Amino acid sequence: MNVKNILPVLCSVLCFQIPSCFGADSVAANEYLTGDQTIVSATGLFELGFYKPGNTSNYYIAIWYKKIPGNAVIWIANRDKPVSDKYVSKLRISSDGNLVLVTNVSKTPIWSTNLNYNRSEPVEVVLLNDGNLVLREKSSSSSPLWQSFEHPTDTLMPDGKLGFSKVTNSTQILTSWKNLQDPGTGLFNIERDLNASQFIMLWNKTEQYWSSGLWVPDQQIFSLIPELRFLKTQLYSFSYVDNENESYITYSVHNPSIVTRLVMDVSGQLKQLTWLESSKQWVLFWSQPGQQCEVYSYCGTFATCNQSSLPYCHCLQGFVPNSVMEWNLNDYSGGCTRKNKLICEGGKNGDKFSVSPSKVLPEHPHFVSTSTTVGECESACLRNCSCTAYAFDDNGCFVWFVDLLNMRQLADDSGKTLHIRLAASDVDVQTSSGNVKLVIGVTVGLGMGLVVAVFGLVFVIYYRQKRRFLKAAKNMQHSLARFAYRDLQSATKNFSQKLGGGGFGSVFKGILPDSTVIAAKKLERMKHAQGEKQFRAEVSTIGMIQHVNLVRLRGFCSEGSERLLVYEYMPNGSLNTHLFKRENTQILSWIVRHQIATGTARGLAYLHEKCRDCIIHCDIKPENILLDAEFCPKVADFGLAKLVGREFSRVLTTIRGTRGYLAPEWISGDAITAKADVYSYGMMLFEIVSGRRNIHITNEARLDFFPTWALTKITEGEDVLSILDPRLEGEAEKEEVMRICKLACWCIQDEESQRPSMGQVVQVLEGLLDFDMPTIPRSIQMFGGNTDSPMFFSEFSSTQYATQTTSYASATQNTTTNMNAISQL
Ligand SMILES: *[C@@H]1O[C@H](CO)[C@@H](O)[C@H](O)[C@H]1NC(C)=O
Ligand SMILES: *[C@@H]1O[C@H](CO)[C@@H](O)[C@H](O)[C@H]1NC(C)=O
Ligand SMILES: *[C@@H]1O[C@H](CO)[C@@H](O)[C@H](O)[C@H]1NC(C)=O
Ligand SMILES: *[C@@H]1O[C@H](CO)[C@@H](O)[C@H](O)[C@H]1NC(C)=O
Ligand SMILES: *[C@@H]1O[C@H](CO)[C@@H](O)[C@H](O)[C@H]1NC(C)=O
Ligand SMILES: *[C@@H]1O[C@H](CO)[C@@H](O)[C@H](O)[C@H]1NC(C)=O
Ligand SMILES: *[C@@H]1O[C@H](CO)[C@@H](O)[C@H](O)[C@H]1NC(C)=O
Ligand SMILES: *[C@@H]1O[C@H](CO)[C@@H](O)[C@H](O)[C@H]1NC(C)=O
Ligand SMILES: *[C@@H]1O[C@H](CO)[C@@H](O)[C@H](O)[C@H]1NC(C)=O
Repeated sequence: MNVKNILPVLCSVLCFQIPSCFGADSVAANEYLTGDQTIVSATGLFELGFYKPGNTSNYYIAIWYKKIPGNAVIWIANRDKPVSDKYVSKLRISSDGNLVLVTNVSKTPIWSTNLNYNRSEPVEVVLLNDGNLVLREKSSSSSPLWQSFEHPTDTLMPDGKLGFSKVTNSTQILTSWKNLQDPGTGLFNIERDLNASQFIMLWNKTEQYWSSGLWVPDQQIFSLIPELRFLKTQLYSFSYVDNENESYITYSVHNPSIVTRLVMDVSGQLKQLTWLESSKQWVLFWSQPGQQCEVYSYCGTFATCNQSSLPYCHCLQGFVPNSVMEWNLNDYSGGCTRKNKLICEGGKNGDKFSVSPSKVLPEHPHFVSTSTTVGECESACLRNCSCTAYAFDDNGCFVWFVDLLNMRQLADDSGKTLHIRLAASDVDVQTSSGNVKLVIGVTVGLGMGLVVAVFGLVFVIYYRQKRRFLKAAKNMQHSLARFAYRDLQSATKNFSQKLGGGGFGSVFKGILPDSTVIAAKKLERMKHAQGEKQFRAEVSTIGMIQHVNLVRLRGFCSEGSERLLVYEYMPNGSLNTHLFKRENTQILSWIVRHQIATGTARGLAYLHEKCRDCIIHCDIKPENILLDAEFCPKVADFGLAKLVGREFSRVLTTIRGTRGYLAPEWISGDAITAKADVYSYGMMLFEIVSGRRNIHITNEARLDFFPTWALTKITEGEDVLSILDPRLEGEAEKEEVMRICKLACWCIQDEESQRPSMGQVVQVLEGLLDFDMPTIPRSIQMFGGNTDSPMFFSEFSSTQYATQTTSYASATQNTTTNMNAISQL
């Protein structure tokens, strides 16, 4: 008989019973778990049974989310010792009271809870509602004998512990899976630093690449994770316990219906993932380290990690991945290997060097003090066959005798040049341009007649291209133009002048043959999103939306997997550069700021109320407000949420919202309405007034939140001009500033029904509608506390913050890859 079917009847808790249930010696089918049998927690959220990852034939005892698509795994018993046949494997309670996994192949258990105790009472195994598997005495359900929460795999669940016990010396460490299909012990882990009150991430248990910073008791955060304070108000309570018996961190969600988990990912990053029921997706809420390439040796040997390109890992020139299959499973640890052996290994001279610019130099260099020139440095390397690379700069000559490890290309790196030793044949291939060589070869081979033909062909292509181009440009006057990828490539000089980057893709400046200046947005991650037909349908919908305060779509390109949108070019860039950057930008006067607030509101009101289908922007922030030559604001990026798929846009918005434009309903998982835009707009109003970011991390790693401070000042009756951007030197209409602050407060009410519509916002700004000071929202009050002496205007902090935001964006990119893959398992 099937365990699954009879047990709910037998036990009130869902458990599978051990000998004690039916008599110690009886060996019946219902005393163990085998094959397809599973046990399910009482609320039905979690399930335990045999789990087979993707495309493998390995089985593991695991706990996963039963109700959630993708069945994400939260715990694995035998991660390094899979069994190959689940029908001859049994999970049972042995006579000594341990929970064991046995097969008919081996006498000793594959896996065991390894408790050393004399069982006097009957025991039972129960899968609790929080996902904890406990082994406990049946009679007294006080403290479990063993529980899976004390032996986590790669996931820390709410109410689980991460740390160590000073009494038993047992530790809880999260260790990544090897790759997306192998839950075996991977290279990355997070653990409590045994020497200090902080948590650290290690590569291969040796190299530390991240630290939480020390615990700051009076603020209840770790010093290098100041955003914890924000996460705590939004998502969960978090505590660090350090007493005579134990030292650990734990967290619990405010709202028990929120499903969340903290995972040490195969990417080497710690990720807080939250399930959004409305979009049926795991959303990345937070991750550390922020940049993928900060993970030690993420790409393995002879590979470089490039933070600004996907995929992040690239083999050096002259090298190929050791295992293409592992690379495809996001396991880059195998690194790369030479295409051709070094010539010196055959005892000959003749190896050459390839130049690899702007790298963070690899680990473990040797300093060669005697070399004074590049030439000497090179020959110092050539002399020894085990030398793999050299670098020469003002600091002298460095050589490497080992496999090159941990080479990184971070966004803010200054250039270093590394010379990598290669077999001469590999150097030749990559230093001269293959195409040119080929053309020469062909022409010489086939004679001059062909040359004429080629020239003719080139001319025809050129002429056609030009004609098509002019035609496209002409069409732009009336409707959407369709561009060829090549044309946009040449208009943007091969996408060389980047205007900005957003979640949906990077924007490049371009000039069409008729001298029209354009901004071309290269959409990322469209490959899986939708087909050509659907894309064109959506694009033409967006193209029809025209308003003086909305950026006009001029055309598009859809070729193969490439998707581009072509917009009118906005000479004054985006609002954030004028508000937050101190250099080379004109200070926006109060009058202009008021115009920008009003124009933006009109654009949004049009999107929400005047279009045929209400369009929710989903991502209102200063980066998406562009300014034309007269500083007239135009909202950008509307309608894209639909283009890239609602789920992906929700992921992006949630992450970017961490910076403070995010309405509470994005996190609670409630339906998103146009009022989510109103909230973000309200947050942006504060920034327009203050000229600084709302969220600000001080030099003491303290998180300041401007709206809380500003609203407190106002309610205390202080002069409203004291919260104004100091660069305006008080040059503003006091009443207008007050009105905008009140309006902002109205827009950011916790309850969406309490917020005004965008139409009402326009009326307020036009002076047609009056209202009383709204109550300060509760979620804003929670930021109170340390905001008395704000250091709002420190340049250092704002740059520090800027790096932080880019890392949120990049973290998003790579989660999406991982998340898709995980849900395939
Ligand atoms: C699945 O496994 C088979 C053999 O085990 C292999 O040939 C195939 O390429 C794998 N497919 C994927 C998508 O990994
Ligand atoms: C284990 O059981 C399977 C199925 O009953 C059987 O085919 C196999 O031979 C057994 N193996 C051993 C070592 O007994
Ligand atoms: C269990 O009982 C046996 C015999 O009574 C004793 O030798 C052994 O030390 C006990 N083990 C533990 C862990 O208490
Ligand atoms: C735990 O480790 C400490 C130091 O390594 C040692 O002194 C202590 O005896 C250990 N305790 C147990 C219960 O193993
Ligand atoms: C703790 O400190 C000792 C001595 O200072 C050092 O040898 C050890 O590596 C440190 N352990 C960790 C985990 O940092
Ligand atoms: C990790 O360290 C072990 C020794 O501690 C070593 O044998 C192994 O090669 C290392 N793994 C990698 C990927 O370097
Ligand atoms: C530590 O453990 C002892 C023995 O179990 C207990 O009496 C004490 O209260 C514990 N201390 C704390 C702070 O929990
Ligand atoms: C990193 O990627 C970016 C974007 O693809 C590219 O422009 C840059 O040249 C790459 N850097 C290196 C060193 O490969
Ligand atoms: C090459 O360098 C390695 C590491 O420094 C050294 O052990 C070896 O003896 C050197 N070989 C020669 C031929 O100098």
